[in-house]
Formats: sequence, C-alpha cells, structure tokens
Amino acid sequence: MQDGRTTLSKFLIDTLDRKPGPESASGLSALLIDVAASIKTISAALTKGALGGNYGSAETHNTHGEEQKKLDLATNEIFLQHCEWDGLLAGMVSEEMEGVYAIPDAYPRGEYLLAFDPLDGSSNIDINGVVGSIFSVLRVNGTAGDAAFLRPGREQVAAGYAIYGPSTMLVLSVGNGTHGFTLERDVGNFVLTHSDIRIPEDSCEFAINASNERFWEPPVRRYVQECKDGKSGCRQRDFNMRWIASMVAEVHRILMRGGVFMYPRDFKTPAMQGRLRMLYEASPMSFLVEQAGGMSITGRERILDVKPQALHERVPVILGSKNEVARIGRYHGEYDRGEDKPYTSPLFNERSLFLPDPV
Ligand code: F6P
Repeated sequence: MQDGRTTLSKFLIDTLDRKPGPESASGLSALLIDVAASIKTISAALTKGALGGNYGSAETHNTHGEEQKKLDLATNEIFLQHCEWDGLLAGMVSEEMEGVYAIPDAYPRGEYLLAFDPLDGSSNIDINGVVGSIFSVLRVNGTAGDAAFLRPGREQVAAGYAIYGPSTMLVLSVGNGTHGFTLERDVGNFVLTHSDIRIPEDSCEFAINASNERFWEPPVRRYVQECKDGKSGCRQRDFNMRWIASMVAEVHRILMRGGVFMYPRDFKTPAMQGRLRMLYEASPMSFLVEQAGGMSITGRERILDVKPQALHERVPVILGSKNEVARIGRYHGEYDRGEDKPYTSPLFNERSLFLPDPV
C-alpha cells in the first residue's frame, strides 16, 4: 500500500477482511467505517464554528458533574445515530451518558462494544482550538451490561481518535501498528498519509498541567524538576514544555515527534485516582501509543493491564516515548521503596555539588 493512495475502506479490507483472523468476517471494518462517518459529520459541524449555532453551554451536566456544551451533546448524538443501526454493536458507552446505551429494539445486535468520548478537550471549542474524538472497540462476551465493558485495555480489538485541527485526521489501530488517515475534504475520503507511525524512544518534550504541581506525587515532581533543570541538571540537556488541554492534541504530537504526556495521580481531589477516564480516554490512547512503540503507565503499572471497576473510572496517565516513560516509572518505584532520598533532601536538591549523578 502506498501513502496518499489508500482510502480507509481499502486499508480495512486489506488489513482485516482479507486476512484470516478473528475479526476478518465479523464486521469490524464496517463498524470502523461507521465510526469514520461520525467523525466526518463532526468535522463538518466543527468547521462551521460559531456560524453553526452550536457554541456555548447546553446548561446540563454530565455524569462527572462537568458542564456540557451544546457540541458535547450534538457530537454524542452523531456517534449514536451513525453506529446504532448497523447490527454490529451490542452496546455503547460515552463520556456524555451515565449508563450503557442499549441498541434500540428496532435494530439487530452485533458482536462489538463501542466506548467513546465524542468531543475531547471541549474547553477548546469556544476558542477555536484543537479538539478530538476518541473511541475504543471490544468484542462482547456475554450480555452487554456494565461488566462487558470493564475489561483491561489489552483486550481492545481496535482503538482510535480523530483530531480536528487545520486538517481532520483519523488515527487508528486494529492491533497491527498505528496508522494515520487525513480527510480529503472535497472528496470525503480518509486517505492513508501516515502508515506505521513510530514514536521516538527518546525525547526532550513533556506536557503536563504545571498549575497542579503542588498536588503531584514526588516522583512526578522529580521528573519535571529534572526536565526544567535542563543542561545544568542531571539530564544534561534542555527540555521543552507544551500544554494544549486536549489529550487528543497532546497524543497526536507525541505520535508525530515523540514526547511525554502526563495527567498523573494528584492530591487536588483525593477521591479521584486521576483526571482522565479509562474506557474512552486512557485505554484507547494507550493502545495506540503501544502499537506505535511507545509506553503508557499509571506510574506504577501498565495501563492496558488495569481492569476498570466502573464505566467512568479515572486513572493516572503517563504516556509517550518509551525511555522517558520508563524513567518516570522507575522514579515511582524508587519513591515507593524509599530509594529516592538524594532528591527529596532539600540539601541535596539545592546544592549543585550534591546533585545526584546523571542517570
Ligand atoms: O477531560 C479531558 C481533558 O480535556 C483532556 O483532553 C485534557 O488533557 C485535560 O482534560 C485538560 O485538563 P486541564 O483542564 O487540567 O488542562
């Protein structure tokens, strides 16, 4: 297949339908085409901007108590309408709905489950910033109740996101690498433009909401401080920081050129494990990152191995370039075992003479 000439349908026929495998004859490719149709419709709605009459608050709140924007609700409807009828799904979960969405009786049930965040980073909407949609596909085993969705992310059969930026892209994995398709707007096709994306193992770029620093755990503070120390610190090179406040935009940048994205465990809201939701944010993004050679952890374990306990469960997320994420994981281990004392002592931290050896 050549970049620039392969449409999404061609790619899926080649990758799934013509290859012997569990998903070859079960309609996964048709389901992904319906997801892509939702994305095209959302892209068209977003492009209208304020002229579409969809800006502003819907004056309702989602299950997390967050204010819903009109576009959160409209994009949720778009996903439901495009995907409920095709006979391929047994149920859906969305950030914007409290429980599992049962397929209406008028339509046949299928073998897959779809979890999605229809509009990620929606605080960027009113400022014409980058937003996205994220989705995850599991195979149903039994009935499509909550338990069917509460499985470790490694069981996903497909995951992806759309990024609505200067161009709209669909980034997808069906378990054979991570691939990017660009929407050719005048024709309406997604065309393969980024095949087999690989995340560089090393990087000098990190993304974190630094306003939360006082709530972070020591291993995260240690990592970020070392990055900020740059050439004069133990990392002996300068780092750059980014924060777009849209997970899709941060993960996309990391897939394109490497880096680390962190929404770690913090103590701002002690009852919450992290900020990002497992089923339709952390899990699909971790799948894409791992399929591109990167790494994704909570700090203490691989995200794809975590079995969620609730549909909207939150989880700490640290993902991106393998060597950097592994380092942050090591810092968590050293902290938990009490082996990171040189850093936690103010004396050693302040005096360059006593800075720990480069690691
Ligand atoms: O809820 C998800 C999200 O919008 C992510 O896309 C983004 O990374 C994060 O929240 C932004 O958080 P904050 O408001 O702390 O910048």
